[in-house]
Amino acid sequence: MEVTDLEEAAAGIGWYHSIDLGHGVVTRGLSQNRIAAEALPDFAGRSVLDIGAWDGLYSFLAERQGASRVVALDHYVWCLDFHARQQYWEECERQGILPDHDRDERDFWQPETMPGRRAFDFAHKVLDSSVEPVVGDLMTIDLEALGSFDVVLYLGVLYHMREPLTALRRLRRVTTEVAVIETEAIEVPGHEDEALCAFYPGGELNRDYGNWYALSEGALAGMCRAAGFRRVETKVGPPLLPPPPAPPIWRSSRQDRENYERVMRDRQATQRYRIVVHAFP
Ligand SMILES: C[S@@+](CC[C@H](N)C(=O)[O-])C[C@H]1O[C@@H](n2cnc3c(N)ncnc32)[C@H](O)[C@@H]1O
Repeated sequence: MEVTDLEEAAAGIGWYHSIDLGHGVVTRGLSQNRIAAEALPDFAGRSVLDIGAWDGLYSFLAERQGASRVVALDHYVWCLDFHARQQYWEECERQGILPDHDRDERDFWQPETMPGRRAFDFAHKVLDSSVEPVVGDLMTIDLEALGSFDVVLYLGVLYHMREPLTALRRLRRVTTEVAVIETEAIEVPGHEDEALCAFYPGGELNRDYGNWYALSEGALAGMCRAAGFRRVETKVGPPLLPPPPAPPIWRSSRQDRENYERVMRDRQATQRYRIVVHAFP
């Protein structure tokens, strides 16, 4: 394919991930979230399962870095008619009611055409990839049939789970060496060592009704251990706050005093961030 044809074809698809297709063509993904290379394990020679792969950025990355086998598992965004579901959610927002999530698979589900897998399939073809796509939900798929993998990526999925502990227990069952978990997290000043969980019943977390929980670092580590992982290492933890500003002095202006109070108030507020941990069986 000519480079201009490749560019044009890629531009005609909606992308979640920014994927380098080669020849200087990088897809224009919606996601701003990119996991730092230092937070990812060594893929060389390892079997990898990428749960919630979407367009496959991390599956293709693992393949490029020498994984012996890569399985990309997804179902939700692959089968969902996003546009129809979004219209429904916006109607719910206007009416001030919470959506019925059962409608996803009842009214907005298109497993025959899988409109949300177009981007993955396109990248797969262009990259001449051997990544194996599997359509399935970690929560319901037959884990014996899926098998187990040295490295399991669980990136950006846990906060979508209605039953996070059950999800982590199932994650443990398919992991032999390390599970990489990236998820929404909270840090509550003064309660840094506690296992806390914030629950978002509506669209409070990024206006997405499918986002349910953000965990503190202690809660995520505790849940991983309760799920059967023996050791948990934080790779990306809470962001460090800058040192507090100098307190106002008698000559300070009213504006300076107000700014100081605002900064000190913000330092007491719950912070949200994306945590990355490695969980070892
Ligand atoms: C935020 S995306 C993360 C994509 C990719 N892993 C990454 O980190 O860039 C969430 C992924 O979780 C999957 N998922 C699985 N079950 C889900 C559910 N019940 N609700 C929403 N997303 C779900 C989606 O299909 C989607 O691929």
